[in-house]
Parts: sequence; C-alpha cells; structure tokens
Amino acid sequence: MTMIQEKKETEGTRMPFGDRRDSPFYRRDIVSVLQFSDDDLAYIFDVAHEMREMVARIGAFDLLKGKLLANLFYEPSTRTSSSFTAAMERLGGSVIPINEVTYSSVSKGESLPDTVRSLEAYADVIVLRHPEQGASALAARYTTKPIINAGDGVGEHPTQALLDLFTIIEELGDPQGLTVTMVGDLKYGRTVHSLARLLARYDVTLNYVSPDILRMPESITAELGEMGVVQTVHDDLGRVIGDSDVVYVTRVQKERFENPSDYETVSGAYVITPETMRSAKERMVLMHPLPRVNEISIEVDDDPRAAYFRQMEYGMYVRMALLALVLGKA
Ligand code: CP
Repeated sequence: MTMIQEKKETEGTRMPFGDRRDSPFYRRDIVSVLQFSDDDLAYIFDVAHEMREMVARIGAFDLLKGKLLANLFYEPSTRTSSSFTAAMERLGGSVIPINEVTYSSVSKGESLPDTVRSLEAYADVIVLRHPEQGASALAARYTTKPIINAGDGVGEHPTQALLDLFTIIEELGDPQGLTVTMVGDLKYGRTVHSLARLLARYDVTLNYVSPDILRMPESITAELGEMGVVQTVHDDLGRVIGDSDVVYVTRVQKERFENPSDYETVSGAYVITPETMRSAKERMVLMHPLPRVNEISIEVDDDPRAAYFRQMEYGMYVRMALLALVLGKA
C-alpha cells in the first residue's frame, strides 16, 4: 500500500492550533485509492457522515475559515468542480476557480509544475483535474500544498470512488457480500477503475458488462485477481442484472477515442429503461457518476432505486471531509 509522504511545512509556517498533525491526512496528497488503508476509509466516511448531519442541521460552518482552495481544472467538470466549491464554502473557506485554463497562463505555455508552484503561494490546497494519467502525482512533487486528484485522464478519480463507496454504504450498508455490476465504458472510465480497486478490499463479486473494445483494462483485472476478487465479464446486462445489488453505469467517453468511428459502433450499446429495471432486485441501487448522455433513460429517474442524484449529493459530504482532513481539521 503506497502512502504518500507528508508534505514539508514551508519555512515560517506556524501551527496555531493544537493537534492538527494527528490527522493521518494532514498535508497529504490524495492521488490514488491505493493509498488508503481500511482505517483511513472508515475515518473519512465517519467524518463525511458528520458533515452530512451538520449540513442538514446548520447548512454551513466556519471550520475552514481563512483557508483557500485552488480549483484547477484542465478538463470540463460540473459536479467535481462545483462540489469542491460547495464543500469549501460550506466549511467557511474560499475558492480560486480556474475552471477554464484557456483563460489562464496555461494558454501561454505554462507548465503544470510552474502552475501548481504558483498557486501554492495563494492557496492551502489544490484540486486538480487533468487529461493526462499521472498528472496529479507529478503536480504533487512540485508543491508543498496538498494536491487532490479530481481525475487524471484514464487513470483514477479517487474522490469519485470514495463518494461512490460512501453512497453504497449509505444506501445498502456494509459492502461485504455485494454483487456490483459495472456497465458501459470500462476501458476509459476512470471512475470504475478507482471504484473497482476500492471495492476489492471487500468480499464482493464484480461483473463487468461492456462492448468488447471497452473492457476493463487487464492491468486492473489482474491486480484484483491477485487479491482473490471474483470477476466476470459479459456483453449482455440481462445475464447479471437480476443478481446485482449495485448497477454502476458509465458514459462512453467519446473524447478519449483515437478513432471516432469506433465510438459510433458502441455508443448506445446499453440503455437502462424502466423495462430493464423490472429485471433488477427490489433492493438495489442504480448509480452513475454523471454526466449521462443516453445510458439511463429519464423515465428511470423516479424509480427509488435510481441513486445517481443522491450519489452526487453524497459527494459534497465526502469532499467536505477530505478538505477538512487534509487541512488538519479532523
Ligand atoms: N462525476 C464527475 O466527475 O462529473 P464531472 O465531470 O461533472 O465533474
């Protein structure tokens, strides 16, 4: 299990409050789900649960008053960007939004290391989405401030995986023994890469349903195979939906295809409709990281098992927890 090194304090930094160093996340980067221990997950989810209750009770509070988050997005985002903003502001902190890098000095050719080095002068934590796999790990080497990976190309989306697992726990309880079926673009969908790795620490069965050209990468199935995870591969969702406790649907990532004509052959391969849901268990959850294009018809939205908008909301509580923890406010 890789643990990211604690960042060095910059010269002159003071520790005005008591035991901030006790948090296992204080000044840590969040770059991959592989960095978390089971205790880490339990801790994050406890704090996220408390955040949920606090928001329900009082809406916002001043835990991170005076702290600044730089939201640095080289790729489009609605949920990740705005939920980190909402999380920071509900905790009393502020946000430097760089959601469109074409209007920043990146368009003049500034490198990622120089950009994060610059932002660390202003911000206490940097959330980064970037089209290249490994970008967050790279950025983390060039700044003393914590980097939170908000998606690195086809690599990982660790905070999405945390919120996905939190959703499963909030909706269904203990993940032990669950059958989770992942559907759609398992090749380019970074959310399923991270979620499969997180779920591998439980006794789960993972079904992968996708067109042939969009299978889960062998690097991930091999990694999970070594951990003893039961994994099955299918073309037909109908064969496994009735046994599934979670059906996790993903968008086909058009922007990542090298050959656009390949996209046309697989777009629309799986569409969840009310009829599909008739084959599903009464107690199951239908999830999607969003945005959806046409993978789940809007007629399904009123089905109580459709959890994708609740999933989005859970994301804010998880991100509130992460921001508080990396800034030493456990
Ligand atoms: N789930 C997710 O990452 O959504 P955005 O691309 O809108 O951030």
